[in-house]
Amino acid sequence: MCGIVGYIGPRNCVPIILEGLRRLEYRGYDSAGIALVKDGVFRVEKKAGKVADLVNHLNQFNGSLSAQLGMGHTRWATHGEPNDVNAHPHCDGEARIAIIHNGIIENYASIKTKLTREGHTFKSATDTEVLAHLIGEMYKRTNDICSAVRLALAEVQGTYGLVVIALNEPDKIIAARRGSPLIIGVGDGENFVASDAAAIVDHTRHVIYLEDGEVAEITASGLRTMTIDDEQIEKEIEEVTFELSQIERGGYDHFMLKEIHEQPDTIMNAMRGRLQVEEGNVVLGGLRDVHDKLMNARRIIITACGTSWHAGLVGEYLFEEVARIPTEVEYASEFRYRNPVITKDDVVFLISQSGETADTLAAGREAKAKGATVLGIVNVVGSSIARESSGGVYVHAGPEIGVASTKAFTSQLTVLSLITLMLARSRNTIDKTHAQVLAREMYAIPEKVKYVLENTTDQIKEIAEEFKRVQNFLYLGRGANFPVALEGALKLKEISYIHAEGYPAAEMKHGPIALIDENMPVVFVVPKDGIYEKVMSNLQEVKARRGRIIAIANEDDTEIDKLADFVVRVPRTYGYFGPIVNIIPLQLLSYYMAVARETNVDQPRNLAKSVTVE
Ligand code: F6R
Repeated sequence: MCGIVGYIGPRNCVPIILEGLRRLEYRGYDSAGIALVKDGVFRVEKKAGKVADLVNHLNQFNGSLSAQLGMGHTRWATHGEPNDVNAHPHCDGEARIAIIHNGIIENYASIKTKLTREGHTFKSATDTEVLAHLIGEMYKRTNDICSAVRLALAEVQGTYGLVVIALNEPDKIIAARRGSPLIIGVGDGENFVASDAAAIVDHTRHVIYLEDGEVAEITASGLRTMTIDDEQIEKEIEEVTFELSQIERGGYDHFMLKEIHEQPDTIMNAMRGRLQVEEGNVVLGGLRDVHDKLMNARRIIITACGTSWHAGLVGEYLFEEVARIPTEVEYASEFRYRNPVITKDDVVFLISQSGETADTLAAGREAKAKGATVLGIVNVVGSSIARESSGGVYVHAGPEIGVASTKAFTSQLTVLSLITLMLARSRNTIDKTHAQVLAREMYAIPEKVKYVLENTTDQIKEIAEEFKRVQNFLYLGRGANFPVALEGALKLKEISYIHAEGYPAAEMKHGPIALIDENMPVVFVVPKDGIYEKVMSNLQEVKARRGRIIAIANEDDTEIDKLADFVVRVPRTYGYFGPIVNIIPLQLLSYYMAVARETNVDQPRNLAKSVTVE
């Protein structure tokens, strides 16, 4: 989604902003722009395309661009196609102020009609330009940019992470947040504003997280924070926890490949200090205060989107079958609008890598309003979902830059497994000996993942070469490996643009089997578990129709070679933890397919890393 970087201080802001925009590229965008204030003149430059296109455009000025106050933006189009005019920043009619904006102004049409009646004309098709004109109107009345922003926002419905600068007040930046993340980076004699710490962590690790409804007036040497109604607020300065090296590619061709290979470590990080292997115990500090609620939960609801929703589906198997708690999994986008029956005895888990997904955040608010205990399973520390939840567990996967989620997924599964073990012990649904076995199984997972990475990559590259020209793929699995099939299919769609469907293997005969012929590759996730024989029958059905089979199977499986065209071997893993290992070859397959098809792996078309709009 859109990205924001702003700077005020003694240094030339242009390279700071452009580097910040580059660090936000992973979020997904289709145009970029900057606005600078220098010697009483506004300079606004913007370009459709990549930050590199903006930089090329700026190169014509031969490095003469320099300013101590400026801001930059990467736009992911919502209102109006991606082109130079619709790119941000936008100015008011008299070009006295400039704004950049993440989010959506829902009532922009009625504001635009009113302003048009008053004589305003608009250059772009964006909601943001309408907001710029509205702030401009307020500025005429107040001559104070901070008050103008507050007054304008009082009339606005929708979401925003907003940054505003004014020609006549070149000593300040105004920032405001509602529903779209914004942080202030606190430097020494200089300050920053950004939608994501990655944009400014080169310069400062000290940040202030703005909350919804808050406005900040930022100067080079200080800042003032307030509500939209101008009540002053004191904010705490917090420390960014990740290292710069974590947001760099570190020798890999793509962030996605780096993140796939980080998984032995990230899975271990999710368990570190939490899993007590010898005792078969799990300690989760973030759930301590809600332990009784969890113990007595009438039902658990897991709600999330995309890959995180797939993790939730595995969570359902874990919570129900090991901890014996009735569990439902819902798409957050559906949950928020269907008036679900929720009581104070329900516990709702929100799963989110970014912690900013608009639908998941809204689903959590809905559940909270209805009295449920809302908990987060989140990667990004300090994100909105983490802050609004009554408790939860960070997955500690570190920054995930590749748009296609990989390491966050396996860390989410690891955390769901930890919660399951904790609940199962507390509720006595498994005894201590069983818990010790499970704990040892969990502890062995990182080594198994490492083994898969080291031993299947070459084979998967060959499979990708073989299938790189096909148009469709089917992914099948059963039990907890059904979500693995869904996730494998999603990964392939996202980055290689091949149509792929995931199904429970036994559902194939109810429709998708019509698609099977010699041109249809079918990926089966078929570990040697309790339903192995059943899935093998489904393989037979595909084979009988000359479908081409790629099987993700266990090393000791001697039957599978008779049916499958390609067998990728993975170590045996306890059933409900199996998805953490079994997904790895499917992540690699989607990655190498995308490489073979020469698509943009880390920034696939139309996708955004963090979906902060509905
Ligand atoms: C898939 C992917 C998306 C996200 C979804 C939810 O690779 O990245 O499907 O999983 O947008 O995002 P989070 O987990 O940030 O809430």
